[in-house]
Amino acid sequence: MKHRIKRLDFNVAYACNLSCKGCISLSDFDRRGVESLKDIKEQCATWSKILDPSVISIFGGEPLMHPRIKQVLEIIRESWPNAMIRLITNGYLLRKYDPEMWFTFGSLEMQVSIHRQDHEKLITDEIKKIVAQRKGWKAHRNIVEGHKQLELTNDKLTIYKSKFKTFVMPYRLENGELKPFNSDPKKAHSICGSPNTPILYRNKLYKCAPLPNILELDKGKHYKYKGTDANGDVATLVANIDKPESVCAMCPESQDHSVDHFKKENVHVKNID
Ligand SMILES: C[S@@+](CC[C@H](N)C(=O)[O-])C[C@H]1O[C@@H](n2cnc3c(N)ncnc32)[C@H](O)[C@@H]1O
Ligand code: SF4
Repeated sequence: MKHRIKRLDFNVAYACNLSCKGCISLSDFDRRGVESLKDIKEQCATWSKILDPSVISIFGGEPLMHPRIKQVLEIIRESWPNAMIRLITNGYLLRKYDPEMWFTFGSLEMQVSIHRQDHEKLITDEIKKIVAQRKGWKAHRNIVEGHKQLELTNDKLTIYKSKFKTFVMPYRLENGELKPFNSDPKKAHSICGSPNTPILYRNKLYKCAPLPNILELDKGKHYKYKGTDANGDVATLVANIDKPESVCAMCPESQDHSVDHFKKENVHVKNID
């Protein structure tokens, strides 16, 4: 049986060209590499028989650091022909790609996260190059899950330009080691930066993005959670999407443990700063 779900994050890159303090993908640590095309194909073949998401977010790290992102998007489109594919990017590397390419994947949404106010123009110029390829865009401003968003919509492509004011940090450091909090799961879930989207990460499914990223860094020393593989209890994981669970205790329950994402010193852009 296929599980119909609203959203699935699919991790395609571990590395990021930015280091944002408190990132849910732990990209403020030294992360390297991308998921190989072979592994992406295998994951698609396996999980497209199990999960039927309305939206698949292409996730990282920074997806545009994947040297074969065009093929990645094509493989994912072939595997889930009816899903909306949402590329989530910080936008800095859009300059490397032919702006026409973004209209070739069927329905695509591109969420461009603006991480530095002082670089907004630079990123907006890249968005403008894409917009210039077509006529008839509709523009709409709104607030989504607490962050400001500009939506630009055309036939095959929607671009969201999003700004985030606050990042709740999904970890704490004690003597250089990642340590779970011991929070009230309900309270932690209510302020979570990724409360309702499971992630496919190295061929396993996890409740949320921070989990596999923390486990990879921590080597399971202080965190005991295990991802669910294709033969595992996917039904229970799906039934608990958007619900607090005991694992949510690992995250903070108070906004005190958050980062002002508008402060320049909290966002380091590796090839610019
Ligand atoms: C982890 S990033 C990966 C994609 C890409 N590098 C980017 O920044 O858009 C995905 C989204 O998560 C958001 N994000 C990262 N850490 C967060 C946090 N602690 N709380 C809320 N949102 C967060 C980012 O702003 C971004 O929109
Ligand atoms: S750009 Fe920032 S939020 Fe996105 S993955 Fe990199 S460090 Fe995390």
